[in-house]
Amino acid sequence: MDDKELQNRFQAQVDAEIKIEPKDWMPDAYRKTLIRQMSQHAHSEIVGMLPEGNWVTRAPTLKRKAILLAKIQDEGGHGLYLYSAAETLGISREEMIEALHSGKAKYSSVFNYPTLNWADIGAIGWLVDGAAIMNQVALMRTSYGPYSRGMVRICKEESFHQRQGFDILYTLSRGSAEQKAMAQDALNRWWWPSIMMFGPHDSESTHSSQSMKWKIKRKSNDELRQDFIDATVPQAEVLGLSLPDPELKWNEERQHYDFGEINWEEFWSVVKGNGPCNRERLAARRKAYDEGAWVREAASAYAKKKKEQTIAG
Ligand code: 3HC
Repeated sequence: MDDKELQNRFQAQVDAEIKIEPKDWMPDAYRKTLIRQMSQHAHSEIVGMLPEGNWVTRAPTLKRKAILLAKIQDEGGHGLYLYSAAETLGISREEMIEALHSGKAKYSSVFNYPTLNWADIGAIGWLVDGAAIMNQVALMRTSYGPYSRGMVRICKEESFHQRQGFDILYTLSRGSAEQKAMAQDALNRWWWPSIMMFGPHDSESTHSSQSMKWKIKRKSNDELRQDFIDATVPQAEVLGLSLPDPELKWNEERQHYDFGEINWEEFWSVVKGNGPCNRERLAARRKAYDEGAWVREAASAYAKKKKEQTIAG
């Protein structure tokens, strides 16, 4: 088949909701944009461990500490699934890690904000993981097989992440006046960075239209953002907390919440590396990678030895 016929057969497979698998023919641009999105998704999981890791030793009870440890461990596993799924497209783990460390690759802007107190851990679980769930549930239906299957497992664990965050804020909002104020302050600082996670408006999105045609994306940035806001406002009411957006109000005609304009200058500044914690996050990742070199060397030496023994019989 010539290129045109291959393209047509590929698109017909996507349109028929037949998953694209690693060995299937695919346009180079499909492969490239999947490597971009999946590797950046994996980077987000791994970098996302850092703001929360800061509070493991400061958790208010042993139970909260154990829950937070379990959540952070899950995020490491999510990164593993996603790096492994991206490797099926022909990129190595080292190339992806190098792209992160050099600043060439992105990770979610939301992880470049500091976690100032325990209420932030609640806000991250409730809002950041809540936003991630909205995005990742749609990605369970993405056209690339390994990505779609990885999402199924990740979404199950994300629900626990979101719940434990909500539970932290629920406890604080029903505690002393100071504790309720902590919860409100955390919500004020994390609300807008969480809705920025969905990316630029559809009209400004570089990749959305092609990603929708290829069913990599099943819902647009603005659709997912709206779904998240609509689902989260009632939860804030249960917490007795107010959302930091004076323009937020229910629109009966649209059957959605109207909300204020996002600070896109802040968004792009953080995406471009000028957020409060960008340098700290990348420095921590590079340090962890360097300090973990001996583990990788030992593991590959062991694997090599085992292989030699198997061959030797
Ligand atoms: N942070 C950093 N960069 C962002 C961004 C954000 N919040 N939103 C968009 N961008 C970047 C895009 O990566 C793209 O840059 P690139 O071409 O260099 O990759 C550019 O801005 C234009 O944005 P587009 O809308 O055109 O890009 P996409 O079509 O890729 O849409 C996306 C962006 C919605 C984030 C999409 O990539 C996606 O759905 N990714 C998978 C989900 C994901 O990565 N989520 C991140 C959070 S994971 C998480 O929170 C883990 C949880 O367990 C805590």
